Amino acid sequence: MNIKTIGILGSGQLGRMIAIAAAEMGVRAHIFAPDATGSPAAEVAFAATQAEYSDEAALHAFASEIDAVTSEFENVPAEAMRLLNDYFLASPGAEALHIAQNRLREKELAKSLGIETPSFSPIRSEDDLSAALATLSGKAILKTTELGYDGKGQIRVSGGEMNAATLWADLKTDEAILEGFVDFKAEVSFLVWRDSEGQMGVFPPAQNIHKAGILAKSVAPAPDISAIVIEAGNRAVRAIAEAVDLHGILAMEAFVGADDRLIFNEIAPRPHNSFHWTIEGCTTSQFRQLVRIITGLGAGDTAAKGQYVMENLLGEDLHRLDGLYADGRNAVHLYGKAEARNGRKMGHVTCQK
Ligand SMILES: Nc1ncnc2c1ncn2[C@@H]1O[C@H](COP(=O)(O)OP(=O)(O)OP(=O)(O)O)[C@@H](O)[C@H]1O
Ligand SMILES: [Mg+2]
Repeated sequence: MNIKTIGILGSGQLGRMIAIAAAEMGVRAHIFAPDATGSPAAEVAFAATQAEYSDEAALHAFASEIDAVTSEFENVPAEAMRLLNDYFLASPGAEALHIAQNRLREKELAKSLGIETPSFSPIRSEDDLSAALATLSGKAILKTTELGYDGKGQIRVSGGEMNAATLWADLKTDEAILEGFVDFKAEVSFLVWRDSEGQMGVFPPAQNIHKAGILAKSVAPAPDISAIVIEAGNRAVRAIAEAVDLHGILAMEAFVGADDRLIFNEIAPRPHNSFHWTIEGCTTSQFRQLVRIITGLGAGDTAAKGQYVMENLLGEDLHRLDGLYADGRNAVHLYGKAEARNGRKMGHVTCQK
């Protein structure tokens, strides 16, 4: 039998769960990351290369040992992906990464596809910021356009008393986006898959609760979201997948505003935290689907087998582990991170409702 090997750029928990799904399917995973050694992903993988994403010799060697490649995060340097793309159709694809690496590009794409976004303006200097703040009515969020995650690189602002110079200095960036604050009823995420022939499908959406900018809990299929919003979200996420020529899977985070309007927040062209419930909840989890697509095995069924609740376990939640294990219905997942810090994602727990 011809055993396939997939390459995964990145060493975190998403890479770990892709590698585990691959192993269950008889597919080997090879991790490539600057901090690969001893990482959550490398611990469960067939092989690991520790090298910088700019190390071309290491990337060529990596490419010669794998049959397909994907990335567990969107900030892979475009050059590295271009190099790998000469060997195989890299996932999620150059355009998907290009768009997802920058919040302004994401929102501009959504807008161009007719998907509602919060009001937003580009901020590239202190002057831009003071001009935008002067016309601001109500609350807003100032975000770095690149490299933010788990609410990092974001400052909540309200017009009037804010000092543009201090804010701009605090953000430490060349480019930011000032977004109108959405007074949302709920947060919901959508997940689409798309194969190399352009066939697509969606997972059931998840309803999400964030605490301090970090995802705390997802319930799926989303219990309190109207069919109209679900339909609008599915249509939007499919349109985005097509527009960026997605190869793999892509999540879209959105708000449900007043009058059941769907409002775009951001995309992530990779497995998403709010779909970890699919490991227990779908015949084909998000991780299996990604492995299936990039190895050409064909997409699997993504219907939910019931309703599930997934809770993240941060460093400060680990004292609850004994209690979680005591309830045999809980599927506890830990990512193998040695150092538990407050706000750091250490694992998650999924339970069928
Ligand atoms: N314009 C907005 N209006 C209201 N709330 C917002 C807005 N933008 C972000 N938030 C809140 O902050 C959370 C994190 O924001 P966002 O998704 O932009 O950041 P992130 O750092 O990329 O987060 P993550 O990596 O966890 O997805 C959102 O899920 C939402 O709860
Ligand atoms: Mg987000």
